[in-house]
Parts: sequence; C-alpha cells; structure tokens
Amino acid sequence: MSDPVLAMRNVSVAYGGLIKAVAGVDLSVRPGEIVGIIGESGSGKSTLAHSVLGLLPKAASIDGDRFMLAGNDMLAMDRNGLAALRGPAAAMIFQNPMTAFSPIHTLGRQLIDLLWRDRDQTAARKRERIVAALRDVGIPDPAGKLDAYPFQLSGGMLQRVAIAAALLMKPALLIADEPTTALDVTMETQILHLMRTLRDSAGVAILIISHHLGVIAEICDRVAVMYAGRIVEEGPVEAIFRDPRHPYTKALLACELALIPPGVRRLPVIAGDVPRPGGAGCDFAGRCGLVEDCCFSVSPPWAIASSDPSHHSRCHRSAS
Ligand SMILES: Nc1ncnc2c1ncn2[C@@H]1O[C@H](COP(=O)(O)OP(=O)(O)OP(=O)(O)O)[C@@H](O)[C@H]1O
Ligand SMILES: [Mg+2]
Repeated sequence: MSDPVLAMRNVSVAYGGLIKAVAGVDLSVRPGEIVGIIGESGSGKSTLAHSVLGLLPKAASIDGDRFMLAGNDMLAMDRNGLAALRGPAAAMIFQNPMTAFSPIHTLGRQLIDLLWRDRDQTAARKRERIVAALRDVGIPDPAGKLDAYPFQLSGGMLQRVAIAAALLMKPALLIADEPTTALDVTMETQILHLMRTLRDSAGVAILIISHHLGVIAEICDRVAVMYAGRIVEEGPVEAIFRDPRHPYTKALLACELALIPPGVRRLPVIAGDVPRPGGAGCDFAGRCGLVEDCCFSVSPPWAIASSDPSHHSRCHRSAS
C-alpha cells in the first residue's frame, strides 16, 4: 500500500498555556481517500486543519511523535518551510468563498498569482491551465470569468473557483473546512459531487470537516469523531454511522437525521459542557449516560471497537 499523504501520531496543539486544543491525535489519510472529521464546536477540528497547513498562529505550540505531510516532516520545519508546502503539499478550501479572494482584483489575476512557482511557464500557458481547471469544476464560459471580479459570481460558483484554485497547485491533500456551510442545499450537493469527482479523476486525498452529518455520510470513506481535542472514534463511514461505539458518537447520531429540517442537518447539542482537555480519566465522563467509576480516573485506551479491525474507539464501555 502506498505511503499515507498525512500521518499524524500523538500530535498536540496548544494555544499558549497548558490547554490543548488538539490533544494527542493519531490520524492518517491515504492517497485518494476522503476522510471526514465531525465533532461539536470547539472540539479542535479547525486547529487540526490549520496545523496541517502550517497556518497556526505564532502563539500556538505543536508537538507530537510523528507528523508527516507528503513526505515532509512537519515537526522539523520552520514557518518558511511550512509556508512553502502550502499549495504543493496541502491546499485549503474555506467556508466562505467570498473571503477566499480579494475583492479588488479579477479572478484571472488572482489565479495567475497562485502559479508563481511555475516560473518556466508563459502567461499564456498559465491562462490555458486556469481555463482548463475552471472548466473541470463546471464553470460556464471559463475564459470569460478571468476578467470577472469575485462579487460577480454566486457563492456556489465562487466555491467552485476556490476548488479550482486549490487544485491548480496540485496538492497531495485538499483540506475543506465546512466547505458547503455557506451554500444552499442544491449548491451543497453539487460541490460534494464535484469533490468526489475530483478524487476519482485527479486522485487527490481530501480531509473534510463538517457539522453536517449528511455531508460526511455522503462523501467520506472514513470518519474521525473529535471530542475535546481528541479523536474518540474512527472508522469506515458505514461503521461510524451504522454501528457507532463511543457514547459521544452515539449521542451525535441519536438525533434522528430525518427529524432535522432539510438545510439545517447540524449536530445536535448534547447536554453538559465540553471539559478542558487533558484531565484524568475520560473527557466525556461528565456527560456520558454509560459512565462508570473508572471513567473518571483512568484514560480509556484506543482500542478496536467492533468486528472491523479498522474501527477504533477510545472508551471503557465501547465494546459493550
Ligand atoms: N487562535 C486561537 N487562539 C486561542 N485559542 C484558540 C484559537 N483558535 C481556536 N482556539 C481554541 O481552541 C479550541 C478549538 O477550536 P477550533 O476552532 O479548532 O474548534 P472547531 O472544532 O473548529 O470549532 P467550530 O466547529 O466552532 O469551528 C477552542 O477552545 C478555541 O477556543
Ligand atoms: Mg472550526
């Protein structure tokens, strides 16, 4: 099997002080794989994504046993090294496509600027590549769009341009943080379809973060569930949705998806507060319906959770 595009082992990120926004995460993404991350607000999903992109603020500190991105050792790199990887190693699609582009320059100018690394190519060749990339993501009249400004496109069209922009840099990994949250349901479906097509045709690996369980269920191969900075359950998408083992995952899924109005499809709110990560025992103990004494004192191990050996959970009770 080919090497993973992303391999994180015991990676933690702290924003100053002792509180870890990401606490000992193990995660890998193989070429061509679509991996989803779900978890409630503040669980550390964006922090994890930003660490992969080398976009953490200066005040953040990161450590771990292993953190490889497309063959690069992320823990050994300085900020310039990390910045140089943005594009060829990993590229990002953000929630709001309007903020991904400058309002004052044409799309053509901004897309050409992204190709600054390809110094040996003429401007005409770059324009050809851009037009082809825009056509690939389903933009009508792609050549005409080079002279357009961002405000002249709809949100869905602009998100397509953002995806084309990310792919022009031929990243090994595409990271999408809530890529469809700002779009209506029809656009959401189209963008998800586009991402899956790109995985199938360009072979790009995708890490997608979303509150929308429907989005995750629809396009992911594997899903990681984050809670208080940790991955508490991870496995193939069918295992997570049909046979969730961690009480936190069960609580997330318990809210009948059919009962949630279309277009909302957000994670239900679970009673209680998210604890500060890093205490003794299980972080979910205070909110868990299955809690036992040991849950407050002993950190649960990462263990195989079902008959599928690639399905793992971090819970003393997950086998029951
Ligand atoms: N720049 C920052 N400085 C300090 N703390 C931060 C910073 N960014 C995030 N945090 C904290 O880190 C924790 C994880 O935040 P993060 O944004 O990664 O969560 P998230 O899962 O992406 O949430 P959401 O679903 O709301 O986007 C939170 O407690 C948050 O307050
Ligand atoms: Mg976030």
